Amino acid sequence: MIKKNTTVFPENFMWGGAIAANQAEGAWNVDGKGISISDICTGGKFGHSKKITPIIDENTFYPSHEGIQHYYRFKEDIKLFHEMGFKTFRFSINWTRIFPNGDELEPNEAGLKHYEDVIDECLKYGIEPLVTISHYEVPFGLTKKCNSWESREMITYFLNYCNAIFNRYKGKVKYWLTFNEINSAIEPMGALLNQGILNDIKKPTLFMDQPDEPQQRFQGLHHMFLGSALAVKMAKEIDPSYQIGNMMIYMASYPLTPQPDDVIANQEYNRINNYLCTDIQVKGSYPYYAKSYFKKHGISIKSEPGDDEILRNGTVDFISFSYYMSTCQTSDSSIKGGEGNILGGVTNPYLNASDWGWQIDPKGLRYALNDLYDRYNLPLMVVENGLGAKDKVEDDGAINDDYRIDYLRQHIEQMEEAIKDGVNLLAYTPWGCIDLVSASTGEYSKRYGFIYVDRHDDGTGDFSRKKKKSFEWYKKVIASNGAIR
Ligand code: BG6
Repeated sequence: MIKKNTTVFPENFMWGGAIAANQAEGAWNVDGKGISISDICTGGKFGHSKKITPIIDENTFYPSHEGIQHYYRFKEDIKLFHEMGFKTFRFSINWTRIFPNGDELEPNEAGLKHYEDVIDECLKYGIEPLVTISHYEVPFGLTKKCNSWESREMITYFLNYCNAIFNRYKGKVKYWLTFNEINSAIEPMGALLNQGILNDIKKPTLFMDQPDEPQQRFQGLHHMFLGSALAVKMAKEIDPSYQIGNMMIYMASYPLTPQPDDVIANQEYNRINNYLCTDIQVKGSYPYYAKSYFKKHGISIKSEPGDDEILRNGTVDFISFSYYMSTCQTSDSSIKGGEGNILGGVTNPYLNASDWGWQIDPKGLRYALNDLYDRYNLPLMVVENGLGAKDKVEDDGAINDDYRIDYLRQHIEQMEEAIKDGVNLLAYTPWGCIDLVSASTGEYSKRYGFIYVDRHDDGTGDFSRKKKKSFEWYKKVIASNGAIR
């Protein structure tokens, strides 16, 4: 434990944690819920991709079907978050609890009521809900109906959903994020999980092995930009005090060498992977470099008159992002890609990696915060960060996750540096504050939590909760507003 006398974190800094419905709730088919794209994703493991099976096979394991039973145990979980001192809790609303198929005219009351109970439980403890509207939970019904975000029709369905939740939770929720990791759709796997675009709907498909269809993905993204901008406008009409953020993956990226071709490769990477979506969602128009990128990749965005105005009038109030790792770019095509990198790139020889190949780079977070603040000058939230690791329960029941404490401490130190640099940082919500199912591999054994959940990849375990060593550590961090860590 490092003790300091002072803190640079602002007085009202929002310490907390984050989860997503499909990775935590379970209860995939109760109380009127429909099937989401995550509900047809099978389990997998590192090096063995998950599969999409358009027909649910009873003999196959689907992680979202059980999650960690948060749907039934949310009161117990939120009480534990309160015990740690959370000021905010980021969770997602599962679209298919509200509109089971996605195209209904009226929302499902049981779904609306469930999240109202979750929100009320947070408010009871003074925890500010931070709500992701769409976190890899697109209704499968809409994939079948119109191939999801590839179709412009999706904007209407998405806005119906937003309308229902913005009205219902008015006065209770202040902060909303439109699409989780919107820029994941730059890569083929994002088309599936984030956009719900599935071309051969009858055939099982490997999750990490989507066909590369940039035209489709970028058309889908155009519809999502419009949906997000119109949601911002709608939110403000319903409640002017609503604050809406975008949500992106920030992959800090460096040139592998000072060779000018590597520097250019890195600039091109950053533009498309880190800036394109946020440029549009913050500045309200496509950046100049999009044109040449689209031309080079044979992409031609179909737009309608008025689209430019929609984008211009629906810019976000703040920027939120996930930060786990960094990567490097090279112009040398003979150098192999880094194995765990979500958004491409090659291995940085100066960094170590997690057991899942994610390269650990705390200073990259300071870089990310300064880079985003410099470019956009909007308040920032780090809404995902953490170490996916295997935990061991000792004979006396203790879980000594010092490696996780180390990882988080180093990232908090770099947030502190960024605040000293002058960055306006509002919140920090480490990912998987309670163990949940991994999004990329579907494993329970890739754990992130301060709270251990007794559930395992072989289907054993009773879902009981247990505090890890990091629980008490994070509690002190929050109580001291970052001074003790
Ligand atoms: C982000 C997602 O990409 O990373 C989360 O928003 C995900 O849904 C998190 O769980 C960590 O990834 P993984 O694959 O370790 O669960």
